[in-house]
Amino acid sequence: MKKALFVCLGNICRSPSAEGMFRALLARRGLERRFGADSAGTSNWHAGAAPDPRAQAAARRRGVDISGLRARAVSPEDFERFDLVIGMDENNVADLLEDCPPALRGRVRLFTDFTASRPKGGVPDPYYGGPEGFERMLDLIEEGVEGVLAHLEAPGEGGG
Ligand code: 4NP
Repeated sequence: MKKALFVCLGNICRSPSAEGMFRALLARRGLERRFGADSAGTSNWHAGAAPDPRAQAAARRRGVDISGLRARAVSPEDFERFDLVIGMDENNVADLLEDCPPALRGRVRLFTDFTASRPKGGVPDPYYGGPEGFERMLDLIEEGVEGVLAHLEAPGEGGG
């Protein structure tokens, strides 16, 4: 099974939303046995917590239930276990690269590199903003999850 790990700062807004939308895409395509996903935070600030209620509500409006996900911090083994380790913004990618064994750095990618619009800096952190930030976040996530799947599906890809 090929697997993607989505990573943001708190693991309560952007990365659980990406995990949920990616899992929903896999379910629609009947690909749940071939591909997998998880999410984590570069911090442990919210470890054990459910996604932010605003992220849960925004995902629910698009037909996806992320209420069962629980936050955790990235661990060193994640770089071995996941074919892609995807930072939601550039700070997340920089933090991941600091902790990643040099031989596995090719697995670390910026989420928005998989979108068509490729906004500078990645997916903006919606935590301190208003509801429109969560809609913008999900627009970008919906734009990118297909590209993540395509990357994992490509022969010889996703293995670092
Ligand atoms: P996330 O958003 O990284 O998308 O989960 C945040 C969640 C919590 C905090 C910052 C960003 N915080 O400062 O607690």
